[in-house]
Amino acid sequence: MKEAWTTTIGRDIAKAVHWLAAGEVVAIPTETVYGLAANGLSEPAIRKIFAAKNRPFFNPLILHIGDVSWLERYAAEVPEKARRLAEAFWPGPLTLVLPKKSVVPDLLTAGHPTVALRMPRHPMTLQLIRQLDFPLAAPSANPFGYISPTTARHVHDQMAGQLPYILDGGPCDIGLESTIVSFENGNVRMLRPGGMSREALEKVVGPITVGQTSDEGGPQAPGMLKSHYAPARKLFFGDIETLLEAVQLPPEQVAVLSFSKPYPQVPAEQQIVLSLTGSLDDAAKNLFDALRTLDQLPVDCILAEEFPNEQIGVAINDRLRRAASE
Ligand code: TXA
Ligand code: MG
Repeated sequence: MKEAWTTTIGRDIAKAVHWLAAGEVVAIPTETVYGLAANGLSEPAIRKIFAAKNRPFFNPLILHIGDVSWLERYAAEVPEKARRLAEAFWPGPLTLVLPKKSVVPDLLTAGHPTVALRMPRHPMTLQLIRQLDFPLAAPSANPFGYISPTTARHVHDQMAGQLPYILDGGPCDIGLESTIVSFENGNVRMLRPGGMSREALEKVVGPITVGQTSDEGGPQAPGMLKSHYAPARKLFFGDIETLLEAVQLPPEQVAVLSFSKPYPQVPAEQQIVLSLTGSLDDAAKNLFDALRTLDQLPVDCILAEEFPNEQIGVAINDRLRRAASE
């Protein structure tokens, strides 16, 4: 049996170093979402992450590194476009899937010949990684299938007892997971939309392909499992006016998550407007916290508005669509 930890929250990097060096799991802040970190080169440590999250072993983890120059330590091959993207956007919300070196455990990559690498931008976490002599394996710090955490409190609410320490770096800057890309024959493919927009990537490497390859069999970036990021309440996604008619519920029984304007039909305390100024970046930053808040209300369902499908709006729509599918 797994022992139950007394989980503490703090800003002490030395404490995080201590627990990680001892092979334990520590929650860390990143600019995207909080991660559940452990020694990424140690199978027993990685196993503890899967256990704490209740995550299936077929879903590989991202390896978090401290510098662009560390790419060669874990990637057997770095295509020219991968290098350009790393140099342009690291540290930042971009994950590169590359052929792995044998030092990377198969447990981390779920047996895939590739490893997902990312250099996070949060200053505390960068400092932490640079004090360790190993990179950090870290999935988002939520139980498998639930909404990712964007504050230390979110992590504590769901993971207390599973780990000794949560390093508190404040609310996440971006609020959505990283964009994941892979490389084939000189082409770049976006496997998961995220905090780095397609538009930004294309400015550096030209046109990229979007979506999974269909001939691979099984999910390529299994964060792509359909019912991911889901709140406990039923969620419907689309045009709010249309949804309000379709659900046929009295307005007191629904909660609404909208982009920039409130809906007068629904009581104000059951609505969250993500950005009154219409900023997609602000909306992304507030998204997961808002979903958690609405999930606590005594309503029948949550109606979430579809966002403009551009910039980080693409990733917002992706997460809401997944939260909606059952
Ligand atoms: O922003 C983020 O990426 C956050 C922070 C903590 O860094 N991490 C995160 O990890 O979102 P996670 O485990 O929730 O999602 C990682 C995704 C999964 O969908 C996984 O399937 C995919 O990365 N992935 C990992 N290794 C892969 C590989 N070798 N090939 C394809 N996809 C991979
Ligand atoms: Mg996740």
